[in-house]
Amino acid sequence: MAFDFDEMLQTVKDKQWSLADIDWDAPGAETMTDELRIKMQPFLADLVWIEHVGARGFASLATKAPTPVIREIYEYFHAEEQKHANAELALMKRWGMLDAEGNVPEPNINVKLAIRTLDTFGDTLPLSGLATLIPLLECALDGALVKFLLDEVEDPVCHEVFRHINSDEARHIAVDFQVLELIGAGPLVKLLIESASNLKPQVVLGLIVVFVPLINKMRDNIVAMGLSEQKLYSAVKRFKTIGSRGEFTGRIPAYHVLKAQAGMVIDRSHPYHRLLADPLVKVTGLIPARLLGKPQSWTEEITHEPVAS
Ligand SMILES: [Fe+2]
Ligand SMILES: [Fe+2]
Repeated sequence: MAFDFDEMLQTVKDKQWSLADIDWDAPGAETMTDELRIKMQPFLADLVWIEHVGARGFASLATKAPTPVIREIYEYFHAEEQKHANAELALMKRWGMLDAEGNVPEPNINVKLAIRTLDTFGDTLPLSGLATLIPLLECALDGALVKFLLDEVEDPVCHEVFRHINSDEARHIAVDFQVLELIGAGPLVKLLIESASNLKPQVVLGLIVVFVPLINKMRDNIVAMGLSEQKLYSAVKRFKTIGSRGEFTGRIPAYHVLKAQAGMVIDRSHPYHRLLADPLVKVTGLIPARLLGKPQSWTEEITHEPVAS
């Protein structure tokens, strides 16, 4: 039976929540020890910005949505990812992880590159390519990183916030893969033509240089925090598992490319890591942060103030 996008849109509307629903001064903040604070601060800063990578992705998807209802769903998702970023920022404030002015911390260089790339190419990427990339990023980053956080942090306010965020994310993933089904069920000729335009060398190269080291960099961070990378790999595996349940997703060329990449990501013995991903983390790490400037267009939209929804 075809997926009911109208019903999903209604559910998305019904499940809206805001930062004002959370009691940010409730007890529990003291569970954040100094040791944990030092460990989690850079991790959370990256997470805040990864939400913005998702937000930017949904903004681009909304401009090329296959139906008006899906466009509206994407617009909600765009706002939800921003809300996640702001809620995570409010948690950072609660835990004393922001400076005196409440400044937004800078993301790592690979996250910065991802934001810049989506800003530059996001709107020009074909629907099938972007619609495939977003669920991979959502499974690998949004989904996995949140699990690490919940395992490490006891604060009940954090768990309350992430109950909302995870419920949003479950809908994101469901829609992401249902849209792939819809695209995959379309005429094959259209998919192939679209994919051929996807293969412009500068775009493919740009995506590799940006998104390959992004996942490996987060893996390095996870290992540096003394956590097991297996959770990240199980999250990446979900991309293959959910995608393969679909009847038509397998007709999308971009899905096969990213599924192959996901397969290499979860196999640490694969030469992919030694020859491509790990060197790219090193090379991109050499880019001076100031060259990329501040993560540009959303700086004004990011705030820990509970009034922002
Ligand atoms: Fe999110
Ligand atoms: Fe998401």
